[in-house]
Amino acid sequence: MHAVGIVAAAGSGLRLGADRPKALVPLGGRALVCWAVDTLRDAGVADVVVAVPAPERGAFAAVLPADVRLVVGGPTRTASVRAALAAAPDRSDAVLVHDAARPLTPPDVVRRVLDALAHGAAAVVPVLPVVDTTVTVDGDGVLTGAVPRETLRRVQTPQGFARAVLADAYAALPDDAEFTDDAAVVRAAGTPVATVAGDERAGKVTVAHDLALAELQVAG
Ligand code: C5P
Repeated sequence: MHAVGIVAAAGSGLRLGADRPKALVPLGGRALVCWAVDTLRDAGVADVVVAVPAPERGAFAAVLPADVRLVVGGPTRTASVRAALAAAPDRSDAVLVHDAARPLTPPDVVRRVLDALAHGAAAVVPVLPVVDTTVTVDGDGVLTGAVPRETLRRVQTPQGFARAVLADAYAALPDDAEFTDDAAVVRAAGTPVATVAGDERAGKVTVAHDLALAELQVAG
């Protein structure tokens, strides 16, 4: 099996309130996107394609290793992954899609995903249990019910796919389709998605508090 890594890094990061795209925000002195690429490479995924915002292509090229392939992303994460997938080297038969916004994902998470693919999974995602009581509310914010948390999971990245499964699922999507992850894309095409254990350290940097926590993790 030969896996190629895709890093979705073309988001603006508005919710972080930074002065640059989120993937270029420094953590421990290095851009988030560099941490994400290192996670994949530390687990043996050497071929990496990064989807970047068009105006900052040069800034990404300046911080990433020269052998990382850059492609211009799209207006949504789904469009960015679609563009990176089209640029992935032909020799790969598996694809891992990772978020630049999860800089501290341990390489062991990547290894678990690769292992599931090697054992025949067509699609696999790392997940964590939900520890809080989880409820539904109405339009006024009044509680309408509780969701049994035993059946709920929080989904992380990298998400792994047999390349043909992911490529066919994207090919079947309308151009303007928008999903928050790639498991949803293959599920829409009818492919079952397996799970492996995620890791609390693989949390997503979305708001300033997440970045502060990540800085503490790096310092510790
Ligand atoms: O916005 P959010 O944090 O959910 O984005 C998840 C990942 O998708 C981020 O790493 C972001 O850079 C990427 N993304 C992208 N293209 C977009 C929007 C988000 O590659 N148009």
